[in-house]
Parts: sequence; structure tokens; C-alpha cells
Amino acid sequence: MTINILAVDDEKDMTRLLQRTLEPELDCSVTKVFSGEMALNVLEQAVFDLVICDIKMPGMDGFELLERIRKKYPDLTVVMLTAFGNIESAVKAIKLGAYDFIPKPFEQDEIIFKTQKALERSLLIKENKALKRNKKGLHSLIGKSEPMQRVFDKINLVASSDVTVLITGESGTGKDLTARSIHALSPRKDKSFIPVNCPTIPEHILESELFGCKKGAFTSANRDKEGLFNEADKGTIFLDEIGDIGPSIQTKLLRVLQEKEIKPLGDTKTKKVDVRIIASTNRDLKKKIADNEFRQDFFYRLNVLPIELPPLRDRITDIPMIAEHLVIKHCKKMKKGMKMIAQEVMDLLMKQSWPGNVRELENIIVQGILYSKEDTLQLSDIPLVNSETNHKQVLGFSSKVISSLPYKEAKEKVLHAFNHDYIGAKLTMTGGNITQAAKQCSMDRQGLQQIMKRFGIDPDEYR
Ligand SMILES: Nc1ncnc2c1ncn2[C@@H]1O[C@H](COP(=O)(O)OP(=O)(O)OP(=O)(O)O)[C@@H](O)[C@H]1O
Ligand SMILES: [Mg+2]
Repeated sequence: MTINILAVDDEKDMTRLLQRTLEPELDCSVTKVFSGEMALNVLEQAVFDLVICDIKMPGMDGFELLERIRKKYPDLTVVMLTAFGNIESAVKAIKLGAYDFIPKPFEQDEIIFKTQKALERSLLIKENKALKRNKKGLHSLIGKSEPMQRVFDKINLVASSDVTVLITGESGTGKDLTARSIHALSPRKDKSFIPVNCPTIPEHILESELFGCKKGAFTSANRDKEGLFNEADKGTIFLDEIGDIGPSIQTKLLRVLQEKEIKPLGDTKTKKVDVRIIASTNRDLKKKIADNEFRQDFFYRLNVLPIELPPLRDRITDIPMIAEHLVIKHCKKMKKGMKMIAQEVMDLLMKQSWPGNVRELENIIVQGILYSKEDTLQLSDIPLVNSETNHKQVLGFSSKVISSLPYKEAKEKVLHAFNHDYIGAKLTMTGGNITQAAKQCSMDRQGLQQIMKRFGIDPDEYR
């Protein structure tokens, strides 16, 4: 596990110096921020082992930041950088709960030694907490909206048992993350989680990959081979994109689900396995069943507990949180100074329809971070077309996509997006108050309610 240190100083050179000194010596990752406000923002989104913080900063100074951190994250270790010889501020820092202080300018050895000591303390606290909790999981799946709360409830509900779970949802809605969260919260969390991306493995190889094979089972099988189900024994196997597998594998997997045993290719004996199965698909399996492409009995065995992930356009109130989380995740990954998102950008992000869901949002944010030269992501950094000013987009859809659809379908799609965007924005502004939102639309409450009903707009999502 990487050690994460947050360096807070309005002097960018100082944060850079801390990064250059500490990262190679302590095998850690240093995230740089340049104000107290940014530090608090980042702390809300990611977990850090240590904060190294300057005292004199414009806006919120180091003492205020320290006090806020002590209140909100009492276990987090904070070391303050103090001006050389200023005993008073060093004493004040310790009184306010800093673990240690380092006078500036510092020697390389001194900062490394003191940071190491501080990290040892963090580690101890962490181990104690882990012992008490012994549970981890949902932190990377973000969302406060009503539909996501329902998803979290279901994840918690299924995690402790061994029931088979089928996760459905459009591409990029977080199916993979959901499967990992279930495993991480389950009693199997210390055993393997084996993801299998079904469509990427050719059908004739998939069987031996999953169940293993005996030497000589086919021409290139020159030795016995264990399959992925074996590897996942006592753990979880995640059959990703299960809607795309052919009928013969469906039949074989059905047997595993029923009998809890596998038969390696070319073997005469079966073998018991203790594997929890989670499957996912972005396909409409009911339609595939109707088209005779998916076995109905297999579907029922898989669909014991379905979790449906809502598309991002149906949870626009989650977009700011997810976007901020993604900015922090990728600034850290790319080793860039931490950035914030300008309000105008956030407004625009909330107006898009996101056909590629969170994955598409993530791509846009990664590109934004790459383009941006400032501490804040601006509209010019974001490769999105503002639908109000550019006609290449129709409410977030490319006009190419829209014009390729039959008239009725295109109209319905645009109307749906328009109503969700327009009414969603009014409901967001009024905290889900329908009467006030209706006023802002210059219409009566009943009329607005009818439209909301027609387009499936749930006011609770905005409260
Ligand atoms: N609620 C969320 N909070 C934070 N990050 C998310 C959330 N949902 C998805 N992501 C991120 O978005 C990306 C896509 O998510 P994921 O791979 O889980 O989606 P998927 O439904 O499996 O997509 P696909 O159908 O394309 O395989 C990942 O990088 C994931 O970390
Ligand atoms: Mg996936």
C-alpha cells in the first residue's frame, strides 16, 4: 500500500521540494496543494497518512487548517512547518494538536527523519483501527443520490452472504467497481477476486480458462492446467459481460451454479469448488432470452439478486462529488499538483447527458487535467461542447447520432434529455421543491408534476 502525504504550502517550490525529497526516500506519494481550502477539499476525497503544512498562508492559515483537521479527522497526523527560531508558533502548533514541527529551512536528513517518525504514528493508529473494523469497501464508489443509496444498501445486504449477484447497467456505470466492493465487504475479502472479461476470451478457449484442462485434452494442452474457478477457490469470480457468452459455456456455467462443481476439460471427474459468483452485463438479457440467445434457466440462476446501476444522467446530483473524486484520483496518478473544478465547468458537466456514463466523465476529466495550466480546471480545458452555444451538439448528443435515428426516436431522446436537463436544473436549484421549481418554470405545480411523471423525473433525487 502506498503511503500518502499531503503537502500544503502556498509556496509551490516548497511543496515541490517536499515531493522530491520524500518520495524517493520513503517510497510514498506526495500530493501538493497550495492553500488550506484546497487541503480540506482534497481531504474529503482521499485518505492520507500524514499532512505537512505551512503556517503562514494567505486565506486560511496553517493554524486554522490544523484546528479544522483535528476536528474532522482526529486520527490524522499533522506536522507543521514553522519559521526558523519562531518558538512561539511551534509551541502553539503543538498545543493545537500538531504531532511535531519542522523549522524552515530544513536539512534533508531532518525532514526525512521527522516524517518517518510521524508516519510510524499514523501506521500504528491505522493498524489499531483496522483491527477494530476489519472491513473495507465502498469508499471508491461515490454517490449520495437516492438511486445510488439504494445500490449501496443492496451491496451491503448481499456482501455478507454467498448469493449469486447479477449487476446490470449501461457501459461505464460502475459495474466493475460494484463487484469489487461486494467482494471487499464480504467474508471472502482476504481471498482472491478473479475478474474474467468473457467476450475477450475466444469461446473455444474460455472453457479451459474457466475450468482448467487435463494434459492432452486438445492439441496444445501439453500439461494439466488449473482454471480460473480453481484460482478463485474460497474467493470470488467476477464474470464480466456475461451476456456475450455462447450457449455451450452457458450450459456449463449453469452446472457450476447448480452443483458447485467444475469439470476440467478432458477430465472424467468433477471437482467441488467454493466460489462466489458475481456476473455483470450491459445487455438486455430478457431480450436475449426472447431471441433464444440466452438460456432462461441460466438467467434465473444468475439473477438471484439483481443490482441495477442507474445511468449517470439519472443521478446528476452525484456529478460534482464524482467529478471532484476523479480529479483528485488522476492528479495523484499523474503526479500533478491538485486542481479544483471551476463552477462554470461543474455546471456544464451537470448539463451533459453522459451516454458513456462515469467512464466518459472520467475521460473528459483526465483530458481536462492534461490541458489545464492553472490550479483550476476552466471551461477552455474541458473538451465538451457547450450545448447552448454550439450546434454540433443537441443537448449533449452529437447531432450525428441524433440524425442517424428515426424521427420519432430522435425526438423522444432529445425531449427526454431536455426535460431531465431543464427540470433537473430547476429542481437542483430549489432542493427538490416542486412548487418553487414550477414557479421558476412559469407553470403550475400540477403541470410540472405531469411532465416529471412522463419523463420519470424523481424529485427525491434532488433533495
Ligand atoms: N460511483 C462512482 N464513483 C467513482 N468512480 C466511479 C463510479 N462509478 C464508476 N466509476 C469509475 O468509472 C470508471 C468506469 O467504471 P466501471 O469500470 O466500474 O464501469 P462498468 O460499468 O464496468 O463499465 P463497462 O460496461 O464499460 O465495463 C472506472 O474508472 C470507475 O472507477
Ligand atoms: Mg466493466
